[in-house]
Amino acid sequence: MNLKGVQLSLATLLIASFAPVIGMGKSRTVTAVPTPQAAAVAPKKAEEQFKNIQVLKGIPAEQVFPTMQFITASLGVECEFCHVQNAFDKDDKKPKQTARKMMEMMFAINKNNFDGHREVTCYSCHRGSAHPAAIPGVMADDTPLKPGEPHGMESVAKPAETKSNEGPTAAQLLDKYVQAAGGEAAIQNVNSRVMKGTIDFSGMSLPIDIYAKDPLKRISFTHMAEGDNITAFDGRDGWLGMSGHPLREMHGSDLDGAAIDADLHLATHLKQMFSESRTEGTAKIGDHDAYVVVGQREGKPPIRLYFDKESGLLVRLVRFGETALGWLPTQIDYADYRDVDGVKVPFRWTLARPSGRFTIQVSELKQNVPVDDGKFAKPLAAPEQSKAHQNSGKAARQRTDSSHRIWLAALVLCGNCVFGRLSLNGYVDFGSWL
Ligand code: HEC
Ligand code: HEC
Repeated sequence: MNLKGVQLSLATLLIASFAPVIGMGKSRTVTAVPTPQAAAVAPKKAEEQFKNIQVLKGIPAEQVFPTMQFITASLGVECEFCHVQNAFDKDDKKPKQTARKMMEMMFAINKNNFDGHREVTCYSCHRGSAHPAAIPGVMADDTPLKPGEPHGMESVAKPAETKSNEGPTAAQLLDKYVQAAGGEAAIQNVNSRVMKGTIDFSGMSLPIDIYAKDPLKRISFTHMAEGDNITAFDGRDGWLGMSGHPLREMHGSDLDGAAIDADLHLATHLKQMFSESRTEGTAKIGDHDAYVVVGQREGKPPIRLYFDKESGLLVRLVRFGETALGWLPTQIDYADYRDVDGVKVPFRWTLARPSGRFTIQVSELKQNVPVDDGKFAKPLAAPEQSKAHQNSGKAARQRTDSSHRIWLAALVLCGNCVFGRLSLNGYVDFGSWL
């Protein structure tokens, strides 16, 4: 992974000047709501930060990587399908040139046919393949085909079984959720939550510690042999720590997502978060029926919430990251709700993105225990590698394996934001460019 050159040449960088605005400002109960930094400098444009931007001119520079991830997810390829290593600005590969034309085509289709609304994206045609099928398939076995779910990917755009105009209003469902979760007073009463458990991804199972504190502070430590992988949000800034690597700042919609995850009182904040919300019918989550609520937010992609028909509890949340070409989804399924101090808390959740998924199972949970604010402070240096890792007389092969594992973990923990895979053993570190 010899990307030093690129990283240095792009070292004049953007400092994370994006504070999440999660629309909770109106709440009286939230005290320290993150506010946009006063007179923030206008975000850098893509063409000001990168060398060879011809089509995506004018988009925020921080959206270039999420946009590239949208493309890779849509076509089912890696970065190297279009790029040569260490020289992302070069146009050496034919598919990169084709991709530019495809962007123009996509913009034109939407402009000419859909009043400029982004109805058609790369994924509409490509569906996880570089070569879109022009001919419908034949039935492979006796089970009827499920439309729109190729490549084992679950569609998040529309619930599988939508029946519109049915059941309670969105406002009623949001209220029912607050009641089901323990009621406003009990929820507001929680000011910290400390959890121990395991995180499972890519066949690995690792211990994890999570600390959350009001307002909107959250940090998790995934314990790896090489050292800790850390995901943190301090109410305003988010960052990732990987053993042996510099810290990574979170940007844009990753901050938005981190703020949602960090909110101990989310149930009571949902109503204020949405400028508009509506019920969009029902869907099946596992063997449960759920009502689907779509909440619109000012200047941000909507959030989809799935409430269990019986319990009223939140069983799924889907949020989207904005890119120049389409939305990147993050889906979180909540399960194993248990009663702790009068509130219902999910002890298991699965977070899934186009690039990966993980499941966290909590085994120990305590609320309202003191957690020092220093816990969430961003350290100046990267988290230390564990002694075991430094001292072991490891062969190159072992080193590759472990750096692979670290990147994999990082990719899984903060998917959309900062990492991409250039090839099977070369991870691109976007973070150091932004
Ligand atoms: C299907 C082709 C395709 C894939 C796959 C792809 N890109 Fe790109 N990439 C492009 C195109 C096209 C541009 C130029 C966009 C423009 O001209 O506006 C670009 C531009 C870039 C740039 C700006 C380079 C510069 O200095 O001008 C970077 C960085 C980049 N891509 C990174 C990535 C990464 C990282 C991945 C993998 C996650 C990736 N790309 C995957 C097509 C692709
Ligand atoms: C309206 C349908 C449609 C849309 C939208 C679309 N594509 Fe394509 N794309 C195609 C078709 C059809 C081909 C030709 C496939 C083949 O050669 O088998 C193609 C080919 C490509 C190729 C060349 C693949 C290769 O093997 O060389 C790339 C790269 C590509 N598209 C990228 C994109 C990107 C990026 C987007 C979104 C900005 C996009 N496409 C949007 C239909 C579409």
